[in-house]
Amino acid sequence: MTGTSAPEYTPAHAPATLRNRAPLLAVLRRFLPAEGLLLEIASGTGEHAAYMAPQLPGLEWQPTDYSPDALADIDAHARASGCARIRPALRLDVTADPWPVTRADAIFCCNMIHIAPWEAAEGLFAGAARLLPTGAPLVLYGPYRREGRHTAESNAAFDASLQARDPRWGVRCLEGEVVPLATRSGFRLEEIAVMPANNLTLLFRRV
Ligand SMILES: C[S@@+](CC[C@H](N)C(=O)[O-])C[C@H]1O[C@@H](n2cnc3c(N)ncnc32)[C@H](O)[C@@H]1O
Repeated sequence: MTGTSAPEYTPAHAPATLRNRAPLLAVLRRFLPAEGLLLEIASGTGEHAAYMAPQLPGLEWQPTDYSPDALADIDAHARASGCARIRPALRLDVTADPWPVTRADAIFCCNMIHIAPWEAAEGLFAGAARLLPTGAPLVLYGPYRREGRHTAESNAAFDASLQARDPRWGVRCLEGEVVPLATRSGFRLEEIAVMPANNLTLLFRRV
């Protein structure tokens, strides 16, 4: 008997996730609670969820993204991981209020606030403040300026390329922009983990 089957859907791949996922997981093991619901903001291709959730066995993982096109990629990577604790991806725009998720025990957001207008950073902290209970973590990963200065020439070049694509985008200043926003929103910065390739992982806690 002959037959044709539908071609497998090949989800998008973000090469950087292969480079940063192992160091990120090592930090998330320390920063995230052992159990509970982890809300991932701006999941992109969903490759972080597919890699990390199977290795964090106490967490339910809720991936989300602003782009409706990303949701099928996230779900495809989740299926391929075989991890039943990754929930179906939801569309979530951080600037919206309310969000389609009403509670979480922790929030993780990787590489978004510099590749979006500043309103996205404001929406992220506002939404996280609505959802998270006192003491719960909000973890951010990405490049940051320190005291107004880039920490590497490559970050300065990346910042220029972002602003050429969209003048509202750019590498944010940790002390001048992100921490003041966090403080206004009801978070305190607890720890800064220095990561490969001139990135930082930031642990904020809901006050
Ligand atoms: C550079 S990608 C990062 C994806 C993934 N976290 C990673 O590190 O590979 C930035 C993501 O931010 C998402 N994004 C942009 N604006 C957003 C918003 N207002 N709300 C939620 N996500 C947003 C984009 O759709 C995109 O998937």
